[in-house]
Amino acid sequence: MREQGATSVLGIDLSEKMISRAQEITSDDAITYRTADLETLELPEAAFDLAYSALTFHYVRDFERLARMVHRSLVPGADFVLTIEHPIFMAATHPRWIQDEDGRKTWPVNRYSVEGERQTDWFVKGVVKYHRTIGTTLNTLIRAGFTIKVVEEFAPSLEQIRENPALEEEIERPMMLLISATR
Ligand SMILES: C[S@@+](CC[C@H](N)C(=O)[O-])C[C@H]1O[C@@H](n2cnc3c(N)ncnc32)[C@H](O)[C@@H]1O
Repeated sequence: MREQGATSVLGIDLSEKMISRAQEITSDDAITYRTADLETLELPEAAFDLAYSALTFHYVRDFERLARMVHRSLVPGADFVLTIEHPIFMAATHPRWIQDEDGRKTWPVNRYSVEGERQTDWFVKGVVKYHRTIGTTLNTLIRAGFTIKVVEEFAPSLEQIRENPALEEEIERPMMLLISATR
């Protein structure tokens, strides 16, 4: 963000290890790092020109509260850019797949409309995530006062698959949801 021209940056994560690592790899007085829980975090009102979050909000139970708090913390016209694990990916039977009649891997979607806690094994067993449908995610942002600008469901291009064939399975279900909104 500093390299992109931000005057100052506040970086937040619940994990002290993540914050220590960020401190190790940056050296800039205009960056402040804070260990904080997004379930309870309060930020000053109308204090930021941009809020950005990468692959974290699907670990937050109360997205409604978070979206309203972020909205209050932004100046009018500011952008809110976020990525989350795609709800289809989260609701799929990850990491178990089955083969369809053409021999391709597929991941049946499991109770997409049932929102709430889901658990997965990723590096450690029993990682807790919170499933929300795309509709709920977008409507939560709209209710908080945001205008949705762009919604992307990442899938690799044929060119990217040619360069890296392992990416092919990513066309079977979107893995990431990217949203850009404005206050
Ligand atoms: C998949 S990692 C993404 C990390 C980083 N944003 C990135 O893009 O490399 C998810 C991060 O969410 C953080 N996290 C999970 N629950 C959180 C919470 N309630 N409040 C703040 N951070 C949280 C974890 O500590 C972890 O660093």
